[in-house]
Amino acid sequence: MKADDSFSIKVAVTQGNMAGGLAYFGKDCVCDCLRYRNLRLESGKIYGLISEYGQGCMYLSYLLGGRVTTDELSISVDEKEVSMPDLAKLSWNLESSKERYRNAVVIKAIQKAIKRNGLSDSFSDIQNRFFLKPSRQDRKLFQLSGERWRASAALGYAEGKRIFYAPYKTSDFYYEMCQSGLLKALKELTASGAVVLLPCGSDYFLKHIVDECIYLDHMHDCYMEELQNRYQEIFGHGEWIRDAETQKNSRVMQAIQGRRSVRRYLAEEVSRETIEVILRAGMQAPSAKNRQPWRFIVATGRAKAEALDMMEKGLEREKTAPFLPESAEHLQGAWQSLEIMRQAPVIIFVVNTLGAEIGKSMTVDEQVSEICNAQSIGAALENMSLAAEEQGLGSLWICNTFFAQKELGIWLNVEGELYAAMVVGYAEGNFLAGTRKRMQDVVEWRE
Ligand SMILES: Cc1cc2nc3c(=O)[nH]c(=O)nc-3n(C[C@H](O)[C@H](O)[C@H](O)COP(=O)(O)O)c2cc1C
Repeated sequence: MKADDSFSIKVAVTQGNMAGGLAYFGKDCVCDCLRYRNLRLESGKIYGLISEYGQGCMYLSYLLGGRVTTDELSISVDEKEVSMPDLAKLSWNLESSKERYRNAVVIKAIQKAIKRNGLSDSFSDIQNRFFLKPSRQDRKLFQLSGERWRASAALGYAEGKRIFYAPYKTSDFYYEMCQSGLLKALKELTASGAVVLLPCGSDYFLKHIVDECIYLDHMHDCYMEELQNRYQEIFGHGEWIRDAETQKNSRVMQAIQGRRSVRRYLAEEVSRETIEVILRAGMQAPSAKNRQPWRFIVATGRAKAEALDMMEKGLEREKTAPFLPESAEHLQGAWQSLEIMRQAPVIIFVVNTLGAEIGKSMTVDEQVSEICNAQSIGAALENMSLAAEEQGLGSLWICNTFFAQKELGIWLNVEGELYAAMVVGYAEGNFLAGTRKRMQDVVEWRE
């Protein structure tokens, strides 16, 4: 297909008029549920695919990206049926963070693609048209933040891709991204004859920038109860479907829903700026009497290796002279945590600077103060894990450090007690959230 060829994509339901189903996205570990229907999309347009999270917009986006398998739908491009692998060849994910090309250096990858595809554009043409900053051209895509989507769009353009799709995002996200030039990049794509698909929670901002909104939300016409039960059965939490209205456009709810304990990490480094975003989120947590009892020790590289050697020493010692004798059955889990800590690029040790030595006898007042400070530290850790999620990073909250409390304490050499470690890094693969109890089992309303 040449860049200026126009084309149309038809999605046809092959079984009955409409089919419903859950879909998993292997790479993204996101579930979604779409009520299939026939659709037609034209090239040269930006489409807003509008639905609540989990109500089909991401499914449709990834379906047209050739990333979903289905027997119930047929997809044709210019009336010619295409297989999912063929569709995948035409398509490009604007969010590169989970794609192999996240590791590509912007200038090199675009220049190579220009050459390979015989484009008449030069790199600087593309750089200007997609608003790519020359100062960042030598970075890898994953090292870019605001510019990442524009760089991905530019690379997909140079690769001659025709369908540009994206994961679920909120209207706010596009609002902010368009302040820094995303719309210009997307318009470049549609001007070249491509289709752009933006799945989003609402049309609030999108309706002003896209050519057409396709509304998929079936909140109002499906059996909520049934859907909720299916989610409960499969994922262990279904209540949030009922709360979808509250979650509309809420980044916090998305981070809460998206966060997972990540136990496998890529070797990729995380920038200091990103870690600081996470630390600031921790520092912004509420704390009892605003005591802010935390201190964060960020360990990477050699320091991290030293700290973990100390932890290993502690776990070894635990076999013969246990600090936590009644927790011996969990010692194996602590070794696993140590492995994860070795793999992750960054560890943030969180110390309660006011914490009393464990086992120390305390007055009642001291105990209450200790409990309040522990809650404050917990709030900081949770804020950090949500911020990590929002930054596209995985994290793991680890308390197995308590097995090596003494050894890690020596290494840390700061006032107070180590309360937890949080590892942060780019997740390798996908992780399902642990199941959750049902609301009726943990909530009691009294009026
Ligand atoms: C206080 C606390 C301590 C934890 N300690 C560990 C740990 O030492 N090792 C580990 O692998 N996971 C640890 N976790 C992660 C939990 O196992 C995890 O949050 C839980 O299984 C639910 O899974 P999810 O976080 O993916 O929803 C800890 C979590 C919390 C809140």
